[in-house]
Amino acid sequence: MNKIWKGRIQKDTDKLVDDFTGSLHLDQQLYLYDIMGSMAHAAGLKSIGVLDQEPFEKILEGLDLVKKDLEKKPPSGYEDIHSFIESRLVDFAGEAGKKIHTARSRNDQVVTDERMYVKQSAYDLITGVIALQENMVALAEKQKGCIIAAYTHLQMAQPVLAAHYLLSFFAKFSRDLKGFFSCFDAADSLPLGSAACVGSGYALDRDLVASLLKFSQKDANSMDAVSSRDFMLDMVYCCAKAMLHLSQISEDFIIYASQEFSQIAIDDAFCTGSSIMPQKKNPDVLELVRAKSALVAGNLTQMMMLLKGLPSTYNRDLQEDKAILFAAVGQTGACMQVFAKLLDHMAFKPVDEKIKGSFIQATDIADYLVGKGVSFRDSHQIVGRLVGYCHKNNKDLQEASLAELNRFSPHFDQDYYSCLKLGACIDSKKVDCGTGTKSVEQNLKKAKQDIKTWKLQADGLKQKLPQYQELKEALR
Ligand code: ARG
Repeated sequence: MNKIWKGRIQKDTDKLVDDFTGSLHLDQQLYLYDIMGSMAHAAGLKSIGVLDQEPFEKILEGLDLVKKDLEKKPPSGYEDIHSFIESRLVDFAGEAGKKIHTARSRNDQVVTDERMYVKQSAYDLITGVIALQENMVALAEKQKGCIIAAYTHLQMAQPVLAAHYLLSFFAKFSRDLKGFFSCFDAADSLPLGSAACVGSGYALDRDLVASLLKFSQKDANSMDAVSSRDFMLDMVYCCAKAMLHLSQISEDFIIYASQEFSQIAIDDAFCTGSSIMPQKKNPDVLELVRAKSALVAGNLTQMMMLLKGLPSTYNRDLQEDKAILFAAVGQTGACMQVFAKLLDHMAFKPVDEKIKGSFIQATDIADYLVGKGVSFRDSHQIVGRLVGYCHKNNKDLQEASLAELNRFSPHFDQDYYSCLKLGACIDSKKVDCGTGTKSVEQNLKKAKQDIKTWKLQADGLKQKLPQYQELKEALR
């Protein structure tokens, strides 16, 4: 293996050590950030007179050739992507190429690449969450009047609009979205200039480098810059939290798709079959989302353990951060995408037929008696006894006659029966956070406004993401 640090180490490294310590198989994903970082770094060196115009131009041309090369075939023969790019640059740009590492260490270089990666992934995940939320709202609108059962303890609880149920997850993903926006900000700071740990011996033009790479801020302390991976921890945490939410809605859907619950139907295109049981239609997509949430939760633990007790400043342990970060970001993005599309291929089934024996309107009947002047605690007991009676006599609440009802309370009247209608149960919820048709409509409207706002905010982030062509033009 070729090395950029040959001088001190006189012997060839053992092949086993080469394989064990290398990270090229992973960090090659960072190649474009590494090239852009080098372009900006060269500009920062030129700005303080450390690099003349001619070698500067040679470096830019050389990096362009390295990029083209990398687009044709994957890198090999080097420890990591940083040494690969530097060595290829020397192949193309000769002596000028050897100057690129002035005022720089791989320690600040790698974390600069990682910050750019996290900014881009935060942006991608933001657009992924927004797409998921758009599909949630679309499904909620498509099934506006559909009443399903809300569950507590996995027991039928009360009637609810499918739209209200969907908006409950919209709310969770809105918080995830805010998390990804703040991940973007946490990564939006330039480490370059920090060099190995105490700062470069050259007064690198960090303002220029930051503006070229679209970093809004510069790290204020070199030792912190090369050692801190908080911005990655934030990212992995946000991924793990979003995945928890995805696992929860997946679990709901797995249960709801069963014959026993039969609360949703999933299109064949999003189900799989069995190799032996011909009748099976399985929700494997949802099960895999549920499983992958475990992997990302594991990534969070991995990242915390990697950082726990690490001495200042750069330690090779930090090389392992990439496998964790890439896995978390990759799984979360893929799950968001497949789940968003699944929402386009499913429908809620109204609860109508299934309510027999569920006494799902019992709370509404308790409220009905309160409306007649009974205290809630008394009314709860009256309705509880009525439910027990109906259960024993195999009757549904609407099958109880007025004479039977009056054995439990003289306050029951003919209007009891209209109170049992599921639509009436829905609209009796007057609070703005409840399932009443009006509040759900308002909340749907608000959700659509939120989506518009977030799309604008996400568009704003694009200006903080460096682009190769744009950078190349800027340096011409
Ligand atoms: N491949 C290394 C990483 O990803 C690059 C930094 C190496 N720095 C060092 N001092 N050995 O962390």
